[in-house]
Order: sequence, then C-alpha cells, then structure tokens
Amino acid sequence: MTVNRLTVFSLFIISLIKYVALDKCSVCRGIIDNFDEGLKKTAKANFGGGNTRWEEKSLGSYATSETRLVEIVENLCSKDIKEWLCIENIKVCCPKNTYGPSCSQCKGDTERPCTGNGKCDGEGTREGTGKCNCDSGYKGDLCDECKDAYFEESKNDTHIKCTACHESCKSTCWEAGPKGCDECGKGWEQNEEEGCKDINECETDASCEHGQYCSNTQGSYHCATCHKACDGCTLYGIDKCDKCAEGYTMEDNSCKDVDECQLEDVCEDENKKENNTCIPKPKDTSDDNNTKDAMEKEEL
Ligand SMILES: *[C@@H]1O[C@H](CO)[C@@H](O)[C@H](O)[C@H]1NC(C)=O
Ligand SMILES: *[C@@H]1O[C@H](CO)[C@@H](O)[C@H](O)[C@H]1NC(C)=O
Ligand SMILES: *[C@@H]1O[C@H](CO)[C@@H](O)[C@H](O)[C@H]1NC(C)=O
Repeated sequence: MTVNRLTVFSLFIISLIKYVALDKCSVCRGIIDNFDEGLKKTAKANFGGGNTRWEEKSLGSYATSETRLVEIVENLCSKDIKEWLCIENIKVCCPKNTYGPSCSQCKGDTERPCTGNGKCDGEGTREGTGKCNCDSGYKGDLCDECKDAYFEESKNDTHIKCTACHESCKSTCWEAGPKGCDECGKGWEQNEEEGCKDINECETDASCEHGQYCSNTQGSYHCATCHKACDGCTLYGIDKCDKCAEGYTMEDNSCKDVDECQLEDVCEDENKKENNTCIPKPKDTSDDNNTKDAMEKEEL
C-alpha cells in the first residue's frame, strides 16, 4: 500500500518536474515541502478539533482512509524519505557536498568543500561542474587564497580568512586600517602617524566652476552648486556667499531675498496702487533648506 502510494507520488513529481525549467532538484524538494505543508494544513482544517462526530458520520470511511494517507505522507516527508525520493528515486538531487550526474565529491574537504569560502557548482543536485565559485575576497581552485585588495587575516591547514584592505590602499595590504597599506591609493598620501591619509584636494589643486564650491571627500572631492542666493560661494548656504545673486541682498552676512514690494517702483502698477497694497511675490522658502541634503537635491 505504502509503496504503491510512493510510486504514484514519485511519478506525479517526475511529471511536474518535466515542465519546469528551473533546477530540478530545487523543484523536487520544493514540491515535497509544499505538499507536506499543504497536507498539514488540510489535516488540521478537516480533522480533529471540529465536529468529529459529524465528520465520521458524513465522511464515513473516506475520513479514516484520508487520515491514514496523512500518516503515510507524514512519514514520507520525514527528512530521510524526502531525500530518498529526490536523490535515489527520482534522481534529481545529490547528497550534501556532492554534485553532477553521479553525485561526485565537491572539491576540497568532504565536509567543507571550497575551504568553506565558496560554493561548489551544482552542489546537492545532479547538475553543475563541481567548480568552486568563491565568495568575495577569495580566489583559487579551492578558494584558499586572498584576492588583491584583501589580506590573510588568519590561516591554518584547513581555514583561511581574507579581509578587505582599507579603502585608502592602492591595492595590497598586510593588515586592516590605513596603516596596513603597501602603497596609498590616489587621493591619499603616506603619513607617518596615520598611515594613508586623505588629501584635501579643496586646499590644493581642486578647481570648481564659478557658482560651485569644493567639497572634500575621503580619497576625492566634488564640486557642488552654491545656494541660489549666492553669486559664488565657499560652501553651501546663504551665509557662505562671496557675493549675493540678483534679487538677494547682504544682511547680517547672509544673502536675503529682496522684498520687491518694499521697493517703490514695483508697486507703480496702477491696480496695486488703488488698493494701497502690494501683492508680494511668492515667498522664497528655500533659505530654510540650508542643509547638505537640499544642496544635493538642487544639484539633481
Ligand atoms: C584553524 O582555524 C579555524 C578557525 O580559524 C579553527 O576553527 C580550526 O580549529 C583551526 N584548525 C587547526 C588545525 O588549528
Ligand atoms: C483690491 O482689493 C479688492 C477688495 O479689497 C480685492 O478683491 C482685489 O483683489 C484687490 N486687488 C489687488 C490687486 O490687490
Ligand atoms: C525644502 O526643500 C524641499 C524640496 O527641495 C521642499 O519641498 C520643502 O518645502 C523645503 N522646505 C522648506 C522649509 O523650505
């Protein structure tokens, strides 16, 4: 009975897998996981907990036979049988750390292929080449070497840990931090106490266009647009202007919006004179946005 159901179940899975272009092993495991979950749900929904007497009476033998199927499937989906189905029976999966049509051993240690720093291609499936795809920072057939810009933080016969060099390094380094660089990268210079130190280009060779100011960054710099109240500036903000832009006037070291309504000639317009009032032009609120955030938004 059980064997028949298993055979039917296997055939059912094989027929499903045929139509799926994905990795067949994942599909096999996925189907069984879903099937298992679905059965548990329906088992809970339909049996026990509800009106058992009604169920027995109206479902008759169906109720009990179905309960038996649930039991079978619960066994079926216990881990070993699940693996057995996908690995031995349907032959789309392989045991852990093996790959390919005949489930060959992945490269390196049987427990930790690829030195634990990469993934064996096709691992756990009947597919793949078994080659190590190394994690970032590692290279070599067994992922047991450090890539450039990484250094060996620790190493013994079985393990190696590669860690990224500091951003200030040109390429290689021998320890973490800016003091560990073999050579400093562009935008950084060797400093006895601090190792590779950022060059403030804004103080040396940077040149930005008129209407922009220089902003130093780690290893570089960029030119950013001045506040619109400024005609040239040293930094972003209405209080950092060299001169004020048209329509703005210097007041307490800041370039403030000129209220044209205060100027007589603006209200020479006859309509406005009649009312003896003046409609101010829309208030310029961008002065409040005196932050780097706003600066970057304006740049966009
Ligand atoms: C090698 O290093 C790893 C971790 O750094 C450690 O777990 C392991 O026990 C070490 N093996 C030997 C043989 O020293
Ligand atoms: C003049 O005043 C009237 C009523 O007070 C108002 O409806 C109108 O919009 C005003 N015109 C201007 C130009 O302010
Ligand atoms: C700041 O700028 C944003 C858009 O850049 C604008 O939506 C917002 O109203 C401004 N805030 C103030 C207080 O002016």
